[in-house]
Amino acid sequence: METWRRVQVKIYSTCLFFLALDSVALSSDVENHLEMGRNFLARGQLQDALSHYHAAVEGDPGNYLTYFKRGTVYLALGKAKFALLDFGKVLDLKPDFTSARFQRGVVYMKQASFEEAKKDLYNVYINNGDFSAEANELYSKLDGLAYDVDLGLYYQDQNDHASAVQIYDRLIEHCPWAPSLRENRSQSHLKIGNIQHAIMDLRTATKLQSDDTDGYYKLSKLHYSIGQVSESLREIRECLKLDPDHKLCHSHYKQVKKVDKLLIDSQSAFNIKDYSSCITFSKKILDAEKNENNVRFLANEKLCQCYQHTDELSLSLNYCSDALEISQTPDLYCDRADAYIENSMFDEAIRDYEHALGIDQDHRRANEGLQKAKKLQKQAERKDYYKILNVKRTATKQEIVKAYRKAAQQWHPDNFQGEAKKNAEKKFIEIAAAKEVLTDPEKRAQFDRGIDPLDPESGRHPDGFNPFQQFHQFHGSPFTFKFNFN
Ligand SMILES: *[C@@H]1O[C@H](CO)[C@@H](O)[C@H](O)[C@H]1NC(C)=O
Repeated sequence: METWRRVQVKIYSTCLFFLALDSVALSSDVENHLEMGRNFLARGQLQDALSHYHAAVEGDPGNYLTYFKRGTVYLALGKAKFALLDFGKVLDLKPDFTSARFQRGVVYMKQASFEEAKKDLYNVYINNGDFSAEANELYSKLDGLAYDVDLGLYYQDQNDHASAVQIYDRLIEHCPWAPSLRENRSQSHLKIGNIQHAIMDLRTATKLQSDDTDGYYKLSKLHYSIGQVSESLREIRECLKLDPDHKLCHSHYKQVKKVDKLLIDSQSAFNIKDYSSCITFSKKILDAEKNENNVRFLANEKLCQCYQHTDELSLSLNYCSDALEISQTPDLYCDRADAYIENSMFDEAIRDYEHALGIDQDHRRANEGLQKAKKLQKQAERKDYYKILNVKRTATKQEIVKAYRKAAQQWHPDNFQGEAKKNAEKKFIEIAAAKEVLTDPEKRAQFDRGIDPLDPESGRHPDGFNPFQQFHQFHGSPFTFKFNFN
């Protein structure tokens, strides 16, 4: 942007030149204001400078230079609309004042008002005075920019929003003050899912206009749609400040305000461990908002967390799952995993912690939770062989063999079909393992010391352990059923 910099330096020095002019004809009061304005300007206090230029304009409304000075201050403050009014006034009073005309052309260009920019810049160029060369250079860009506007709309029309964004990026570099370019880029960002960018563009577009109620409305809706409820409330209030009777803004405001309050209440209840109130408030959010999933997510998330602290744990699982369907965050996976642990569902808990780690491998809570779940799972897996055979810990070998025969007969997989058969196979293996351990004095002693001699993880699985062979020793019946591992 070399041209811009050069132009800006030149404009600035021209301004300084005019600001330094001593206007002998002015009353001392006006002169005083101009002097103060100049001083504040030199210190970069634009707003204070502006007040003095207001007073100077009031005191001497026929002086084009005062308007020009105020216009440049407006520009520096980013208030293009008022700058344009002042430059227009200057040119009414003194049509051949090329600095003002050039400035106005530049502002029009930055606002993407290419036809107006063309007129002013062309005029400055053919007058062959101040800024003639710069005006020519900018003028030569205008057709290209106007073409890009059409190109952007063409891409939007073709639903090629990535290309449209590229065109708008280029355009906005030259025309940063055109709200409609920002609005249009915002739409394309939205279409390709860049909601944050869409919000940024809309916000700028709204700032560039002083009365953009629709912009604030859209902004508020966007924030709400991604679950940013307090931000949504802030923007919708801006709309109502401009127009308290704006129908759409008003009804959206009522909704957002209600949900915002409930969210704050449920969080406060959570903070003071008042879980039943937390649940009540969160459920009210689900009642109040049936459509926006990202808002419902917030309520589901709270319900997932709060139910964990009640004795209705299984409800926690439902809400965690509802929330996870909307958005998958590591913390939420951990919340659900915690609930699974409380329900002794260790496999599920492990799976959720692993999901969390898939999103963020350094997630501390997930790492710790995973270790804990694995440990608990192992503990839960440790079999109590006495219990499996339903004998006392003091049972004799004969009692154990008798109990084994009874149980093995009862659970022989041949007696079952389908799903039940699988379950019986599992039982049958456990029963055989229990007999294996409890009828062998050495293994039984090991087991009594808290070690499972058959624990596959210990790597000491007894040689040739085959539950069915063992069974045959006692039964002598042919081994008929097909065993179905897995
Ligand atoms: C923005 O889009 C609207 C509607 O699609 C269109 O009418 C308008 O000309 C566009 N403005 C710019 C500057 O691209």
